[in-house]
Amino acid sequence: MEVRKFFFIFLSSFVLLLSLCYAAKPSLESKVALLNQASSQNLGVVELDSNLYDEFVAKPRNYSMAILLTALDPQINCIPCKEFDPEFRLVARSWLEAGNEPSRLYFGVLDFKNGREVYAKLGLNNAPTLFYFSPTTGPYAKDVSEPYKYEFNRHGFSAEEFASYLSGILGTQVPVKRPPNYFAIFITTILILGALASIKLMYPMMESIIRSKNTWATISLVVILMMISGHMWNHIRGPPYVYYQNSQVSYIAHGFSNQFGIESQIVAVMYGICSFSVIALIHLVPKVEDKNKQRFGTYLWMGILFTTFSLLFALFRIKNPGYPFKLFI
Ligand SMILES: *[C@@H]1O[C@H](CO)[C@@H](O)[C@H](O)[C@H]1NC(C)=O
Repeated sequence: MEVRKFFFIFLSSFVLLLSLCYAAKPSLESKVALLNQASSQNLGVVELDSNLYDEFVAKPRNYSMAILLTALDPQINCIPCKEFDPEFRLVARSWLEAGNEPSRLYFGVLDFKNGREVYAKLGLNNAPTLFYFSPTTGPYAKDVSEPYKYEFNRHGFSAEEFASYLSGILGTQVPVKRPPNYFAIFITTILILGALASIKLMYPMMESIIRSKNTWATISLVVILMMISGHMWNHIRGPPYVYYQNSQVSYIAHGFSNQFGIESQIVAVMYGICSFSVIALIHLVPKVEDKNKQRFGTYLWMGILFTTFSLLFALFRIKNPGYPFKLFI
């Protein structure tokens, strides 16, 4: 009797344990079925909470999964989250509609209000954060244990940039089918038609401006000054305009591999003064009738040219004390 009772207890606890294990660890089949259902019902996006997150991220996975941890609550006011959300959903939707192998890639979204536990567990304190989990089993399994983290600053916020990042990892094309923006097309058409009409109306007036050598010389000069003064660098690297430190403002960044926004403007103005002096010497001074005034003009513009040029060298030396050239100062 005792033995049978013992055996019964043993067996029932074994069964209980086994069912607990199954409840805690859903099988791959059920995970894939759930993901397929959830994503096809919701335009390709699986909305997660902390439990679902843990469940889908848990191994084994024979699917890839891109999970966006975001915070769309207006109270949190996460502007990049709002900016990226439609782009992420666009990629998910395009992937779904392209009819790819279903369990290849899934898109999940975990909002902070449903996923505080996950945020706390991962020690995340900024949003959006995007993780990419590679499959651990199956034909596409990769031998990486940590998820990849999408770097927004490097890769960008647009659907196209995100999709090309995914394509790179996945080794297959992730498409983006952006619905046409009819309003923008309409406005652009109106603007182009308006511009064409006004060009036609004003052409007789504009012809002399367009044909004038001075117009093109001015445009070229402005473009050249912008380019040689480092405007392109500012455009690409986006440095601060000036730098504040301990209530002191610095206008000039030290070293040649750095600059502030205002620096390129200072340099452009100096180059501009130099080139205007040369133009004045070539074009304006020879037209002066009075010989004395002409001589005075020559000295004046020469003086301006040399002073500005030597100041420019001085500026380069402030920026980098190793700069070898100088003129007067
Ligand atoms: C992943 O597993 C599920 C369930 O076994 C299966 O239906 C699916 O085809 C598998 N996917 C891949 C990419 O192997």
